[in-house]
Amino acid sequence: MWGRAVPCQYEYSASEMSKYYLTTPIYYTNAAPHIGHAYTTIAADTIRALKRMQGYDAVLTTGTDEHGVNVERAAQAQGKTPREYTDVISEEFRQQWQILGLNIDRFERTTSERHARVVQELFRRCRDRGQVYKGQYSGQYCIFDNAYVNDAKPGDPCPDCGRPTETVVEENFYFKLSEYTDKLLKLYEDQPDFIQPESRRNEVIAFVKEGLKDLSISRTTIKWGIPVPDEPKHVFYVWFDALTTYMSAVDGEKIHGDDLWPADLHLIGKEIVRFHAIYWPAFLMAADLPLPKRIFAHGWLLFENDKMSKSRGNIVRATPIHKVLGTDALRYFLLREVVFGQDGSFSFDALVGRYNSDLANGLGNLASRTLSMLHQYRAGAVPASDGASRIAAATAVATAAALEAFDKFEFSKALEIIWSLIAILDKYIVDQAPWKLAKMEGGEERLNRTLYTAAEALRIITSLLAPVLPASAAKIYAQLGFTTPITDVRTKDLHWGHLPAGQVLGAVAPVFPRADAKLSIEKMKELEAEEYARQQAVLGKNVETKTEEKPAGTPQIAIDDFLKVDLRVGVVLDAANVPKSDKLLHLHIDIGEEKPRSIVAGIAEAYKPEALVGRKVAIVANLAPRKLRGIESQGMIVAASLEGGSPSLVSFLEEVPIGARLK
Ligand code: MSP
Repeated sequence: MWGRAVPCQYEYSASEMSKYYLTTPIYYTNAAPHIGHAYTTIAADTIRALKRMQGYDAVLTTGTDEHGVNVERAAQAQGKTPREYTDVISEEFRQQWQILGLNIDRFERTTSERHARVVQELFRRCRDRGQVYKGQYSGQYCIFDNAYVNDAKPGDPCPDCGRPTETVVEENFYFKLSEYTDKLLKLYEDQPDFIQPESRRNEVIAFVKEGLKDLSISRTTIKWGIPVPDEPKHVFYVWFDALTTYMSAVDGEKIHGDDLWPADLHLIGKEIVRFHAIYWPAFLMAADLPLPKRIFAHGWLLFENDKMSKSRGNIVRATPIHKVLGTDALRYFLLREVVFGQDGSFSFDALVGRYNSDLANGLGNLASRTLSMLHQYRAGAVPASDGASRIAAATAVATAAALEAFDKFEFSKALEIIWSLIAILDKYIVDQAPWKLAKMEGGEERLNRTLYTAAEALRIITSLLAPVLPASAAKIYAQLGFTTPITDVRTKDLHWGHLPAGQVLGAVAPVFPRADAKLSIEKMKELEAEEYARQQAVLGKNVETKTEEKPAGTPQIAIDDFLKVDLRVGVVLDAANVPKSDKLLHLHIDIGEEKPRSIVAGIAEAYKPEALVGRKVAIVANLAPRKLRGIESQGMIVAASLEGGSPSLVSFLEEVPIGARLK
């Protein structure tokens, strides 16, 4: 059914009980938390609990990424110091994880003193080993992705997000990244599971094989950053700073005599693989420090098929879901519905649908049925029996298979396996019909066996699910009469027969009351609007638009300057994803010329190619052609982009002819 039965596989030997250090990305302080951020942090919290169940001392770090020109300008626009600005948003993240009941062991801010010290130390080690040098940087920089854009010219958009790049001419420290091409390729070869899933690994290998350029790791034109030692004009490039959080968060800490660093796992979203899988190991190699063991990149959470973003206004926050259905419902949905590693969609309908079918009807029903029969027929105590051997065997097979899937972060598969076991159990109970056995003469022993089987399987299922459903599993566990916390359960306890005969059950109460779909969705949407307004107020009302409306220092231009830009209406004839790019689409756009224009635009995060065909758009028609990822781009699509959000294309409410000029 689930492959080979390997019941002993879920016993971990004492020697394996050691530390397991895992991290989430540290979140930018230019947006308030939403379920995209919650997705990573919930997955990390689940892995932490799974590792603890396996006997590891698991430690989870998250935090906030607070430096950079983007933040400096946003704070300035609000009349705040950068620190005042980031204090508020950092606190929002901290509180969000508390509301969701996530077990965060360390919350590190890049503005902490300890962090600054560790970043400076990493730099010193690189410098002492001759891995950095001073040079002149002249080129384009994207302040939104905090990325240097090689080969771009002034006026070019960022090849990743499509937003305008800025010209930077300054003295920088360079890191000799170009010397790491072979070393990195060897690392990926020697440790095939260093980058997962496989598709991401292949992308990184292909990228590195093209050769790496030295990387600028300091800036002299901004102040909001960590100072470079002995170089008063320089602050660190934000990714050199941010990645080092993974070390500073556990600086000098040991567990059972082992240093917590290196991390056993960096969990990240797919868009930041390059920074983690290339820059980070290269910095550490240069400093002669241990490398993290694994980087796992999950996919994006889409809302009704578009990537969630501030600019599209399709962001969903976690607190309203927590208030209406409970955090476990969100956790279950995210981990069951989305194949970990791939993109997946969130919708309120699907959330409530899964809640009712899998949690209320599936697990909730099995628990309340089993517990109420024990109360009704056995005065609320566990009867003595070995249970049905067929069900014991099926449970062992399912447990081994689910643990194996969990271990590979195949959450959806693991949950599917556990729900198949729930179905087997439901059928077993119906077949045995305890309500008939209770009335049958001589049915005592069979009734004991049936009830013990149901209760023992429920104990194992609940324990297995505790990492995914911590609050509800704890409730069912207490209703089964356990007085120790469910978090004490280890994989060795998942064997059949651990439920003690005679154990007195706790009080029974429904764990997943059925939700009225219409009412609960209405309520979540209402609370969503309230939460949005609350976040806006906390962040300072215009925090999301102010900096974009008029970036500090934008010069005024005369009408003649504006008229130099030839803006035209066009229609999209076809669109396709650019290979090996998450953000770029290649489009052909008819603007009434003899041949359609070939245009590469950074809008793949926000738009599916097929959704664009036939759509009217505005393009800059007289931009000098340039090559992006080897494709000639003969113009630029006009889109609105809020800070930290993805682009939203300009569109027309009235009919407009193709080729019409915008002026
Ligand atoms: N600050 C950097 C990371 C530095 S790590 C040393 C950053 N921050 S971020 O705020 O943009 O957060 C990015 C992470 O948030 C993603 O990698 C992902 O883990 C999570 N997500 C944010 N939006 C998401 C979705 N819509 N879907 C899935 N995950 C998302 O990048």
